[in-house]
Amino acid sequence: MTGWSTDRIPDQHGRVAVVTGANSGLGLVTATELARHGAHVVLAVRNTLAGAEAARRIGGDVEVRELDLACLASVRAFAAKLAGDHPAIDLLVNNAGVVLLGPRRTCADGFELHLATNMLGHFALTGLLLGNLAAAREARVVSLSSITHRSAHLDFADLMFERDYRAAAAYGRSKLATTIFGVELDRRLRAAGAPIVSALAHPGLTRTNLTPRAWEHRGRFGRMIAWGGLLATQPVERGALPQLRAATEPGVRGGQFFGPSGLWETRGRVTEARLSREAADPAVGTRLWAAAEDLTGVTYL
Ligand SMILES: NC(=O)c1ccc[n+]([C@@H]2O[C@H](COP(=O)([O-])OP(=O)(O)OC[C@H]3O[C@@H](n4cnc5c(N)ncnc54)[C@H](OP(=O)(O)O)[C@@H]3O)[C@@H](O)[C@H]2O)c1
Repeated sequence: MTGWSTDRIPDQHGRVAVVTGANSGLGLVTATELARHGAHVVLAVRNTLAGAEAARRIGGDVEVRELDLACLASVRAFAAKLAGDHPAIDLLVNNAGVVLLGPRRTCADGFELHLATNMLGHFALTGLLLGNLAAAREARVVSLSSITHRSAHLDFADLMFERDYRAAAAYGRSKLATTIFGVELDRRLRAAGAPIVSALAHPGLTRTNLTPRAWEHRGRFGRMIAWGGLLATQPVERGALPQLRAATEPGVRGGQFFGPSGLWETRGRVTEARLSREAADPAVGTRLWAAAEDLTGVTYL
């Protein structure tokens, strides 16, 4: 199979890249490729022992920093220290994510855990690092979407999923919220004339630590992943290509969205991916942004 590959990643020397959830799966491959091409890579991880092991495997110019996206105090502490140590940040890959296929859980701030980790933590982090991103030449923020965003719908009356909770639906909603965030961030950066590009990517169905968790689930989502596991999952090196392309290809435009081209976008070579109507709706974006500012207390753009 031909198509975009890591051979196309330009030299990254002199660039500072931050990858959340860089100790495993797609984040580990992304961090590895960025470091291999010369970037200084910050591995933003919740478990620093796992981060140290990842740093050892990656080699190159990397540093490990503790970040728990499901805790606003941790996000603030991480961002304050990082912003002081790296005045200019060229790339932020908002990669970390959870699929929790058990009963509803909340984080220390009281938010439903999928939304907290996958979207609200990254929303706050991006806002807190915006000055450093603006200080770099042509910085980028990459948001990790999922094909599940297309079958999800936000319920603004119950963002924390207190009614009729289903884990798979909560994951899908959190990924829709993350996608809306990436698109709305692009709109706002353009309106502000900021020299930062917000791009998006999804890995189709990729074999990582996330997939066995989905196998445990017996609902429709679990069956889809199970069939996907049999038929369509791709290795993590291939699954990371859309986010690596969004992060590094010269000339990527704000709002561009990359994913695999084959079999319902589950695998295959990298191409432009399709946003759901809800993800692309500016009215939904405006509303979600206001809610995220209100919940996190981080206000920007
Ligand atoms: N694999 C797929 O098929 C697929 C499909 C669509 C989208 N995605 C997205 O791809 C991204 C990467 O997932 P993956 O498949 O590579 O799964 P993974 O191997 O489980 O990696 C997820 C990473 O996120 C980290 N993380 C979880 N909670 C965190 C928190 N509170 N604070 C900081 N880091 C946290 C994990 O850290 P620990 O190791 O400490 O748990 C891990 O490093 C996610 O956003 C996921 O939604 C994946």
